[in-house]
Amino acid sequence: MTLALGLIGYPIGHSLSPWIHGQFMDKLGIDGEYRLYETTKANLGETVKLLKSKQVDGFNVTVPYKQDIMEYLDELDPDAEKIGAVNTVVSKNGTWKGYNTDGQGYVRSVKSDFPDVFRPENKVLLLGAGGAARGIYRALVQENFASIDIANRTIDRAKSFLELKENHIETTILSFEEAESMLEHYDFLVQTTSVGMKPNIDSKIIALNKLKHDAVVSDIVYQPLVTSLLQEAKVRGGRIHQGYAMLLYQAELAFEIWTNETVGLDGLLNKLELRLRGKE
Ligand code: ATR
Repeated sequence: MTLALGLIGYPIGHSLSPWIHGQFMDKLGIDGEYRLYETTKANLGETVKLLKSKQVDGFNVTVPYKQDIMEYLDELDPDAEKIGAVNTVVSKNGTWKGYNTDGQGYVRSVKSDFPDVFRPENKVLLLGAGGAARGIYRALVQENFASIDIANRTIDRAKSFLELKENHIETTILSFEEAESMLEHYDFLVQTTSVGMKPNIDSKIIALNKLKHDAVVSDIVYQPLVTSLLQEAKVRGGRIHQGYAMLLYQAELAFEIWTNETVGLDGLLNKLELRLRGKE
């Protein structure tokens, strides 16, 4: 089996995806390639044509084209359609179908570390309401929680998430000040904004003074590997979940869609952490 895969985005020179999918192929003994198709917006249509003519088996899509790619696809997975963004495309008999594995990948990554978080009575607080948060909120809504609140700087953006909600979930939209003041209420905090990312490593989206002991605090920022939010959470008795694992889990799901094979991430999480540590 020779697999032809790739990534569309801009800029993507530093993407870890070729390395990750290369590891998957090695692990499963699959022969193939994962190529970078760095594309300006004006050339997106041309790149899509190129991928069609090459008859690739599938590809990933990253910023800034997760929405733009949708007009070129023949079919959308219902969740990708709801989220309004695609990060994985699979080709089957010449037709292209789009999926979004970001949110489900994120949920898988937390489940593998902290399965106990997914109890219906646990209260979830999502920090941020950008593109990444949208996929994550949708995936969390499909879990058993009764309550997932959202705090964002721009309240209207968070309100638009209510269209992704299911009836069994209660969602209240909060300012960061409100979220801070009632933090002891939450069992699981999910930080999805870019705040705290290199080079602004001292920035924190909220203060954790009122963090519940034993709460799980998760940050999708992975550069630095331990953000200042996670450092504070640790000091206050929280349990921390680092963002780099999501990279592997969303890729694993994409690889499953392309090949129907389950990779298994044993060993790879450590390898990726070491690789990222080398860049700190
Ligand atoms: P992504 O697709 O990576 O999630 P995005 O769509 O630009 O990126 O979303 C960024 C998120 O980070 C948003 O929640 C954004 O808040 P707004 O909706 O108010 O813009 C949040 N964000 C970015 N910089 C921020 C800052 N300095 N303070 C607070 N929130 C910030």
